[in-house]
Amino acid sequence: MAALTWSDALALQQPRMDSTHHEFVELLAALERALGGSIPAVDEALARFVEHTERHFADEERWMVGLGFAAQNCHAYQHAHVLQVLREVDGLWRSEGDLNLVRQLVGELAKWFPVHAQSMDAALAQTMAEQGFDPDTGLRARAPATDAAPITGCGSASCA
Ligand SMILES: [Fe+2]
Ligand SMILES: [Fe+2]
Repeated sequence: MAALTWSDALALQQPRMDSTHHEFVELLAALERALGGSIPAVDEALARFVEHTERHFADEERWMVGLGFAAQNCHAYQHAHVLQVLREVDGLWRSEGDLNLVRQLVGELAKWFPVHAQSMDAALAQTMAEQGFDPDTGLRARAPATDAAPITGCGSASCA
């Protein structure tokens, strides 16, 4: 069984985020399966996972800016940290071919993702719902007052 599988507990009732998160879970499982296959299979699955995660995080960060979050906030910081680790592991895999490092990455991401989705991403989805935000157009049906201060935290309980 995959280290991470989709469950209703991961659903945030925000269609764009939920479909991206479904893909995240599927691509992580594909990477895990590739670990039992050939080197080119790992190369391809890891590249697809990195590329998808870059888009996934960039989308959420763009939406946060559109919702009035400060560009620098703990949600974006956490994305940056995860991407840094991902790129380091990707580079080490391509230079040294250490399968155990990729295996460890899969295990760590499988633990990290549900916590992130249920805290920071859930807070983002809630703010999107509150403001009637359309992620496709970037428009808000209920924008806050124009003099409202930027949201400096991420809105989740885990935000220090
Ligand atoms: Fe996310
Ligand atoms: Fe996120």
